[in-house]
Parts: sequence; C-alpha cells; structure tokens
Amino acid sequence: MKTIFEPFRIKSVEPIRMTSQEERKAILRKAGLNVFLIQSQDVLIDLLTDSGTNAMSSEQWAAIMRGDESYAGSPSFDRFQKAVQEITGHPEVLPTHQGRASERILFESITKENQLVISNMLFDTTRANAENSKCKVVDIPCPELYQSTTPSPFKGNIDLDKLQDLLQKNSNDNIACVVMTLTNNSGGGQPASLANIKAAAALCAKHQVTFVIDGCRFAENAYFIKLREEGQGHRSPKEIARDFFELADVISISAKKDGMANIGGLLCMKSPELAQKCRNNLILTEGFPTYGGLAGRDLDAIAVGLWEALDQDYLNYRIESVAYLGNALLELNYPIVNPPGGHAIFIDAKKFLKHIPPSEFPGQALVSALYEHSGIRAVEIGSVMFGRIDEAGNEVPHSQELVRLAMPRRVYTQSHVDYVVESFASFKEKAAQLKGLKFTYKPPVLRHFTARFEWL
Ligand code: F0G
Repeated sequence: MKTIFEPFRIKSVEPIRMTSQEERKAILRKAGLNVFLIQSQDVLIDLLTDSGTNAMSSEQWAAIMRGDESYAGSPSFDRFQKAVQEITGHPEVLPTHQGRASERILFESITKENQLVISNMLFDTTRANAENSKCKVVDIPCPELYQSTTPSPFKGNIDLDKLQDLLQKNSNDNIACVVMTLTNNSGGGQPASLANIKAAAALCAKHQVTFVIDGCRFAENAYFIKLREEGQGHRSPKEIARDFFELADVISISAKKDGMANIGGLLCMKSPELAQKCRNNLILTEGFPTYGGLAGRDLDAIAVGLWEALDQDYLNYRIESVAYLGNALLELNYPIVNPPGGHAIFIDAKKFLKHIPPSEFPGQALVSALYEHSGIRAVEIGSVMFGRIDEAGNEVPHSQELVRLAMPRRVYTQSHVDYVVESFASFKEKAAQLKGLKFTYKPPVLRHFTARFEWL
C-alpha cells in the first residue's frame, strides 16, 4: 500500500499559520539567514529536530494529571523507575532534566584526565561533556558509514578491529569507557546490529572497560534490528532492546527522543557504588534523586512514553514514514545518506550543490533557501556547526556538509511529508542558481545558534 497508516487519531490540533515566499524572504533576512533565529509560528514544517518535539498521547496526558509533586518519595518516581527497570534490566535509575545532564554526571563520575572515550560516534553534547572532563574522544564508526550514498543495513556499527586494537594498545586505566550511540545520530540516524553491540560489549568485558549505551533512539534501533538482522525478525522490539541494554554497564538516555516526552532524561547502571557517586553529583545540580530536575508529572509522561515508543504499530509507522521521505528524495536524485535513518534524512549538500565550495557553506545555503522556498526548517550539520578556525585565523571546513531533516514523533502526517517532497521537487530547478553565504556575525562558540549571514 502507498498510504502510510498513522496508527493514531488526532484529538488536539495546533494551527499552522500559512506564509508566502515574500513574507519568508523578509523573515529570513531579518534573522540573518539563520533559521535558529526564526519564530516557530513563521515555520510551516519544522524539521529542525526530533528532540522534545514529540506529540504526547492521551495516556501520557492522563499520566501527567497523576503526577505527584512531592519533593521526596514521589510515586511518580516509582512508576518511572519501574518502566526503566523493566525495559533496561538495570537496577539503578536516576532521573535527569535531559540527556546532556546524564552525560555530565556520568563523565564526571567515571573519567580521569587524559583518558580515552571510544565510540561508534559521539553526539556533540556527549563529546563536549567528555572533553569538559578532559578526556580525548576517538570515533571509530564502521567503514561503510563513510560511503554516505551507498546503502548498508548497519552503518551505526562500531569498527570492531579498531576497537580491539585500541583496547590492546592502551591499558584499561587509559580508557574511560566505550560508548555505543544507538542510533548513530551524527552519522545519519543509522542503527548498530545486535551482533556488533554484543561483540563490542564482549571486548570491553575482556579488557575490563566500562561499556556505555547512549540509547536516545533505542526503540528505533531495536526495530531496525528486527527488520534487518538475521534471526531477529520474530522477536519484539522490547525483547531486542532488553538484550542490548543488558550488555551495558551504564545507559544514558534523553527522554526527548524515544521517551516520547518534551523534556527529561535518565541515567541507569548496574553498579550500586557508581550509582551512589552519580546520585551525589545529581543532588548538587539536578535535584533530589527521586525527581532529578524534572516535575513529577514529567516522570509519569516518560514512564508511559518509553513503552509507547516500543509499540510495533507505532515503530512501523515511524520507520516507514521517515523512509517514505528518504525514498522520495532519492527518486528526485537528491544525494542522501542511504539507507534513510530512523529519525531523520540527511542530504549531502556538498554533492547536491557542487558549485558552492565548503568555504561558502553549501549546507547553510540550502537550509536558508529551503526555508524561503517553502517554509521548511532544517538544520545544517557542516562547516557552520563544526568548522574550526586555525592558528592563522582561517576557516578549516568540516569533513561533511549535511542538511538534516529530523521528523518529530507523531506530529506530521503523510500529507505534510508529501508537501515536503513537492517542495524539494520544485526547489531542484532553483538549485543551480543558488549562491553561497558569508558570515556577517561569527560567534566564538556554538556558532550555528546565533551566527548571522548574507548571500554572496
Ligand atoms: N545523545 C544523542 C545521540 C542525541 O541525539 C542527543 C540530542 C543527546 C545525546 C543529548 O540529549 O538534547 O536531551 O541533552 N540530540 C538533539 C538533536 C539535540 O537535535 O539531535 P539532550
């Protein structure tokens, strides 16, 4: 069937204000050609992120009303803890206000200066928190990841040969941990296989190195394993997720993704000693261990949302609708990271806009022009976000110029996606005339959030 069946009815709606190209041109100019500086009311389809932008279910809203706001010993925490323990198998559960808080607490609790943090690919906040704890980050994704437009089922795998090599060459005292990011967001929302996660965990166990899962998109990864890995097709996403979670010593999750919530995070682990250390850190900045920076009602929304993310009908709709967008862009000959990711489609702007050199920011140019063309908000993952300035003050471009179209969960329908596809179809005619950009304001750090540009 061509129709994607959205397995929900809509009970509450948010109006989208229609805008004209002329209006958007003026809005974009006022925002310095930076879509982070545009009001959400001026966006038609917001694909900036899938983080915290989820639509909650009626069960989640009902759970919110049950939220108990007691400072200590809230039953909301008991429900949250029970859901997390059942899904992960980990006994120690700490709530946090979002993923990066879990990351900070973890790295401050387990790392020593100059240790390595090895990963299939860390997300930027995870990397920043590891580096803030004075660790050195080494990304060793599998080689298939670098063939962006060539499909392969598990591009989120870690390179096991390189992992073995690093574990052999360094004493375990030099390694803080190995982190598997599921799915690999920075690498295109690509999953890792259960076999790969198992092998990485076994290597860590052999060398007595802490094995961590960043499980922000655990349900999407579990569903890809069910669809693509031999011998896994008959198993439920819940069983598969439980399998890989049990391999980890520590799990860090942002509940703003597969927690189906608008805010929240969690950190869980097997060791009571490490949990004690993390809890003391949690109290310092996040809050008492039974709320950790969240309201009781948030804990209840997450307790329900984690289960909903594992529902097979939901996951089928989720993975199919992201792939629907990806496949339509492939038919239009857009170079995308292939296969489509679980939460997003990534367009390779370097390949699409060959006439714009990285020094003129092809990804940012595409994001800006796309907003003006059709009111779609995407995000650049390229030299604006990750470019460096060398000692002589020159820009050093990033290795990739990607544009990410991230799909909020349960928010847009197939008609909305069709609108996005039609926009890309008509945009193609304009692409050859598109110009590059130059900075008019270049902030010293995290510059993609506040930078301003003009067309060349
Ligand atoms: N890990 C991964 C893999 C992520 O994608 C994110 C956030 C985090 C950790 C941090 O979680 O935002 O709750 O602090 N990713 C968002 C995104 C911001 O747009 O991809 P957080």
